[in-house]
Amino acid sequence: MSFDYTLRCGLCDKEYDSAVIQRLCECGRPLLAKYRLTGSHSIIDKSLSAPLSDSIWRYRPLLPVKDIRNIICLGEGQTPLLPATRLGDHLGLRNVFIKDEAVNPSGSFKVRGMSAAISKAIEYGIDKFCVPTAGNAGGAAAAYAAAAGCTIRVYMPADSGDAFIDECKAYGAEVATVDGTIVDAGAKMRKECDPEEWFDLSTLKEPYRLEGKKTMGLELYEQFNGDLPDVIIYPTGGGTGLIGMWKAFNELEELGLIDSTRPRLVSVQAEGCAPIPKAFAEGREFAEPWPNPQTAALGLRVPSAVGDFLILRAIRETGGEAVAVSEQSWREGVKLLGHFTGIYACPEGGAVLAALIRLLIDEKVEPADGIVLFNTGTGFKYQHVL
Ligand SMILES: Cc1ncc(COP(=O)(O)O)c(C=O)c1O
Repeated sequence: MSFDYTLRCGLCDKEYDSAVIQRLCECGRPLLAKYRLTGSHSIIDKSLSAPLSDSIWRYRPLLPVKDIRNIICLGEGQTPLLPATRLGDHLGLRNVFIKDEAVNPSGSFKVRGMSAAISKAIEYGIDKFCVPTAGNAGGAAAAYAAAAGCTIRVYMPADSGDAFIDECKAYGAEVATVDGTIVDAGAKMRKECDPEEWFDLSTLKEPYRLEGKKTMGLELYEQFNGDLPDVIIYPTGGGTGLIGMWKAFNELEELGLIDSTRPRLVSVQAEGCAPIPKAFAEGREFAEPWPNPQTAALGLRVPSAVGDFLILRAIRETGGEAVAVSEQSWREGVKLLGHFTGIYACPEGGAVLAALIRLLIDEKVEPADGIVLFNTGTGFKYQHVL
């Protein structure tokens, strides 16, 4: 039911065998699943029943798991695309939508990637995982490890907040906290977890979280009846959300389902940690690591990303933008989302609205543009910063 695929390095294009576990390319950059796409094949697996049919696995032809028995599904994906009419009226925009990822299991978009990565790992016979996290990815990974009966170690910054730590523990994960950022959490994890024993689920260091994330693009294609929006605004840490949608649209074009027109992809970071907007403004292919990253929008406190060049490529190829927003403006964004849409957004979702307001001021969006704002998670886990 799935298209065959190989794995190719996103930078040097070296090919790897997908029949065995792969991590990064020998050049140190991410591997991407490259499907052998043939036209006239549906992207939807109509043979599935619930819950798979109501989850990301609806798009099983474009996902990597071969044997349906390996799929770990908690009902991830198929999130609502909500017309934000009152917010649009307030801003003078006619077609604003919110894709609300807060309603996912574990409360964030991260479950899409973890469902795909952990299901595929199970297909390879893996049952011990480790992951560094800013918070949401850890909860998501721990939930799927629990559902699969696997063991997991989660490493997160000590200031992540109790909700993230307690959630992981509730799923039976071992949790270690570190002073610093997700980079320091990753360093501690690598010191303590032998890679022969513990499978590292770090962002883009295995190829399959990205496959799960790309379903956000496939859902938009379906929810807009094939007529994609003009602009998609997305908060960027490691970048899998943005890269995933870019990949999804490229695959839809290869299948002949869309033309070469793309939504303009807008990457949002915080002013206190903005390696992507800086590299974008400077016309660079790669982003320099951000010294002393500071933001309470914890998912955006990612000073360097192994997929930086892919984020920048996705923005440039689609005529998009990279925007850095202030702490005050994302807080205002959370408030506006609450007041005008009834969504209790995470800080990263607030940052997305702040970026839209910046684009409006800079006249980079038009009143009639179809605009999708992603609220990537629930505000409930961020009581300590909101
Ligand atoms: C709520 C939320 N939004 C956005 C992001 C950034 O996602 P990505 O690392 O895929 O760019 C994160 C990452 O932790 C997050 O938790």
